[in-house]
Amino acid sequence: MTLDTQYLRGSMAAILSVLQHTSCPENVVFHFVASASSVNASLLRATLSSSFPYLKFQVYRFDDSHVSGLISTSIRSALDCPLNYARSYLANLLPLCVRQVVYLDSDLILVDDIAKLSATPLGESSVLAAPEYCNANFTSYFTPTFWSNPSLSLTFANRKACYFNTGVMVIDLNRWRAGDYTKRIEDWMELQKRMRIYELGSLPPFMLVFAGKIASVDHRWNQHGLGGDNFRGLCRDLHPGPVSLLHWSGKGKPWARLDANRPCPLDALWAPYDLLQTPFALDS
Ligand SMILES: *[C@@H]1O[C@H](CO)[C@@H](O)[C@H](O)[C@H]1NC(C)=O
Ligand SMILES: *[C@@H]1O[C@H](CO)[C@@H](O)[C@H](O)[C@H]1NC(C)=O
Repeated sequence: MTLDTQYLRGSMAAILSVLQHTSCPENVVFHFVASASSVNASLLRATLSSSFPYLKFQVYRFDDSHVSGLISTSIRSALDCPLNYARSYLANLLPLCVRQVVYLDSDLILVDDIAKLSATPLGESSVLAAPEYCNANFTSYFTPTFWSNPSLSLTFANRKACYFNTGVMVIDLNRWRAGDYTKRIEDWMELQKRMRIYELGSLPPFMLVFAGKIASVDHRWNQHGLGGDNFRGLCRDLHPGPVSLLHWSGKGKPWARLDANRPCPLDALWAPYDLLQTPFALDS
C-alpha cells in the first residue's frame, strides 16, 4: 500500500481490516510506499507501531521526481499525485526476494481472508491478476485521438481487453521485473505527454499494457465505486453477489463523509475500522 498524510486514516482502517479477517495475521507482511519528499518516515513508523505493535512491515521511500516529469494533468486532480503512480514501481522498490504481492489502495476494507486473494493463480504467463469488468465501456477510457490512430489502437487487436480497477491487484514481481513492465508503462506515459490518448491518471497506462492479458479474480474482491460522488450527494450500492472487499473508489471518501455528518449508508461498514477517528497530520 502507499501511505500519505491525506489517506493515512484510510490506510490504517485497511490494515486493521486485513488483520481482523485473516486466519494467520502473523503471516502477513506489509510493504508501504511513502513519498520521500512530504512524509516523515520515522513518524510514520511510530504511528504504525503504536496502533499495531506486532505488525510486520517495511516502509520504502518513493522519489516523486521519478514520475512527476511523466505525469500529464488528468481530468481529476487527485489522480495526478505522484504517489498514485507508485504501484508501477513496486518491482523496483521492493527487495528482489519479494516475488509476489497484493497491491491495495488506501480507501478499502477487506471482510475476508487476504490469504485467499494472494493465492490467486496467475497461470502460465500473467503478470497480474484483478477482477475484470467486461461490461464496462472500454472505448471510453481512451480518447478519439487514440482510437483513430491505427498504430495506437492496434495495441488492443487480438486482445479481449476489459476494464479492470488497479486498486486491487495480485502482482508477480518476478515476471514484472523480467518483462520490465515499469518501462512499458512509462513509455505510454511519455506518449500521453506528447498527444492526449486518455483522460484519467494512472489507470489507462495499466490497461494499455495489461488489459486482456491478466488473470481473473472473482468480483467479490473488488466491490468498487462506493465513493460515488459526494458533490452531487450520490451514494452507490454494492454490486450483486458476495463481498470480500469493499472499495470506496471515486470522489467521496467515507472518512470525509462521516466527518461532515453526511455519510452514505455503506460508510457505516467502514466506520468500525476507523482507528484514527480524526484527520491526522503527518507533516512536521
Ligand atoms: C520526524 O518526526 C520525529 C518524531 O516526531 C521528529 O523527532 C523528527 O524531528 C521529525 N523529522 C523531520 C525531518 O521533521
Ligand atoms: C462507449 O463510449 C464511447 C466513447 O465515449 C461512445 O462513443 C460509445 O457510444 C459508448 N458505447 C456504448 C455502448 O455506450
